[in-house]
Amino acid sequence: MFRKGRFEKEMEASASSYTDSLEEDVRLFKPVVQINMAHTIMLADRGIISKPDSSKILKSLLNLYNTDVAKLDMSPEFEDIHMVVEEFVIKEAGEVGGKMHTAKSRNDQVAGAIKIALRDEVLKVQENLIELVNSLLSQSEKNLNTLMPGYTHTQIAEPTTFAHYMAAHSAALLRDIKRLDDAYESLNSCPLGACAFAGTSLPIDRNQVANMLGFKRLDDNTIDSVSSRDFALQIMSALAISMVNMSRIAEEVLLWSSVEFNMIEVPDEFASTSSIMPQKKNSVVAEIARAKAGQIFGDLMGALSLMKALPLSYNLDLQELTPMLWNAIDQTRDAADVMSKMMAGVKPNKDVMKNRVKSGFSTATELADTLVMKLGLPFRDAHAIVGRLVLNASREGKTIDQLTVDDLKSASKDALEKKIEISESDFTAAIDPANAVAARGLPGGPAPKTVAAQIKILRDKTKQHTKILKVRDRTVHETEQKLLKRVRELSR
Ligand code: ARG
Repeated sequence: MFRKGRFEKEMEASASSYTDSLEEDVRLFKPVVQINMAHTIMLADRGIISKPDSSKILKSLLNLYNTDVAKLDMSPEFEDIHMVVEEFVIKEAGEVGGKMHTAKSRNDQVAGAIKIALRDEVLKVQENLIELVNSLLSQSEKNLNTLMPGYTHTQIAEPTTFAHYMAAHSAALLRDIKRLDDAYESLNSCPLGACAFAGTSLPIDRNQVANMLGFKRLDDNTIDSVSSRDFALQIMSALAISMVNMSRIAEEVLLWSSVEFNMIEVPDEFASTSSIMPQKKNSVVAEIARAKAGQIFGDLMGALSLMKALPLSYNLDLQELTPMLWNAIDQTRDAADVMSKMMAGVKPNKDVMKNRVKSGFSTATELADTLVMKLGLPFRDAHAIVGRLVLNASREGKTIDQLTVDDLKSASKDALEKKIEISESDFTAAIDPANAVAARGLPGGPAPKTVAAQIKILRDKTKQHTKILKVRDRTVHETEQKLLKRVRELSR
């Protein structure tokens, strides 16, 4: 409809279907209608269009707002949702509909619409991440005394608890939620009024439009408004980081549920079997989540590459960023959702974990520390003595719980030619993993009491975030309702 001035021919079908953005614009439908509502109200308030004309436009926009987007004509020749909306209004309201696009461009409109759409989208991701944190913390609460080996280099390192591990993942995810809060801040700046890039000489009121749409402030520069998508890059970066963290949970689920580790049982509802091997129980949810992380990094990398060296101001290249943004949002939101359900049902194999922590020399560090504390040995000497104890035991095929004080004494002789005295009870206490864990009551450590304190801190943070999300959701909802109320009044 807007080609008739400049062109004599319609766009070639392959060219219009190659360049249209209608599919990824579906999520922008309501935001675009809202922007047109606010803009039309402002145009009338500023006397740029007449009140009766604005009423007709608003009436049609209200109809459109209540129309199912699937019912709209989305043929590629419309190019994008912005033109679909304008076409609808012109068809319904008649010629006055052509006044709606006064002092407005698709360039500022699309930036504004993406920001508005993201308010809901980011909220849903964060809600699901909070659910995941909650199910991890519930696991943590149930397993304060569930001993397990902790790992460094994927080798048994020191004893800890299942609670300590689950709380660790929660702490990381809470930072992801916080990072998304920070990214959300960049959605508060309004690009509308920038028009194509240079604003307009018509006497518009940018602040009024920003205010009606719930933006806290205006962008500082109109070229920047239509050229930038760093707000989207920031959100995608935060999403990518949270996928890193979720993929690490997924990886541990896969490792620990293997026959080799045998430390956890994944609920049947989140596993699949083989079409040929009847014994198989595959943790497919964890596999897909691990893989999807890569897809989201790809989205981020695609978006960064698209933006790199792109000259200012608006270029249609920017349109190609939108689907990557939606995919990153959707995949992160779904990963958090399904992982939270799966993690709630994971069962630790407590006996296996306990036996492994006992037999795996996991208390070697604690034993060395005991030599330091009880005998005043330099840590290096203690390290050498216990290291030799482990070497000797490995050679004899013994585990640490099969060793005695005498073994320790001879290890000391072997390693340092040193005679040491240590009581049987100090030795047995040191190689008892439950003791080692209980003794690490330092802040953030694995002792059941300390983990309980961590859980409280993490739960409090979760509650604070839930509050922030509620306020944000309410504010966005109220702004929208206020605008619609105004539109209803003015279109009567
Ligand atoms: N569909 C476009 C996008 O998503 C909207 C802006 C188009 N502007 C233009 N001059 N063709 O970025």
